[in-house]
Amino acid sequence: MPLEALQQLERTIERKIRLFEQKNGIRLDDEVRFIRSWLERPLSTGAVTPSGRVLARTMARYVNPNIAGPVVELGPGTGPVTEALLAEGIAPERLILVEFNPVFCQLLRSRFPTATVVQGDAYGMRRLLGGMLQQPAAAVVSGLPLVTRPIRMRLGLLRDALELLRPGAPFVQFTYAVMPPIPRKLAGVRAEASERIWKNMPPARVWVYRRG
Ligand SMILES: C[S@@+](CC[C@H](N)C(=O)[O-])C[C@H]1O[C@@H](n2cnc3c(N)ncnc32)[C@H](O)[C@@H]1O
Repeated sequence: MPLEALQQLERTIERKIRLFEQKNGIRLDDEVRFIRSWLERPLSTGAVTPSGRVLARTMARYVNPNIAGPVVELGPGTGPVTEALLAEGIAPERLILVEFNPVFCQLLRSRFPTATVVQGDAYGMRRLLGGMLQQPAAAVVSGLPLVTRPIRMRLGLLRDALELLRPGAPFVQFTYAVMPPIPRKLAGVRAEASERIWKNMPPARVWVYRRG
């Protein structure tokens, strides 16, 4: 096949891939990155594909952009929820992204150059973010696969997040599980849940916990 015909074919395939991505609201290169991360660390990646647009938007809508303070995202992965937070009107400079996987951290730094990307373990957020927050956080948004951790660790994570937050500000967590990832009845904590998001693959629900 002549070179020109080959180049033409390459452009056609490229265009078809972009159309497919737009139609389905996904990025194929992120899907590949995710599958690779899941193969390497299934328990900490917790999913074989990034969150879909509807789930990401549902999470972001629990964050009020008019409440002052940083917005902490735990386990941002390739950034679908981060993008939804920006679309909700959160300035990128307010974002603190805590991610375990160094490949995802590199990607996040290139996609969100004015956000703060912290490579580390979100379960150590008190130590990790201790000196970093100049004021209480406006929200903590988590994509961590909580249910792969023992309940004691999940409760510790919620306690640490609520300590970083303004009173009444949300800790937002999604789960594929039917049960809440953290019990809904805890002393001094209010919990609420979204409808089940059937359009996500797999279907998910968003849980929100606040002090009060
Ligand atoms: C289920 S994926 C969600 C990714 C992204 N938020 C989304 O919705 O597509 C979980 C993410 O949490 C990260 N992660 C898992 N355990 C972590 C930990 N202890 N500290 C920081 N990040 C962690 C994984 O590397 C992965 O990017």
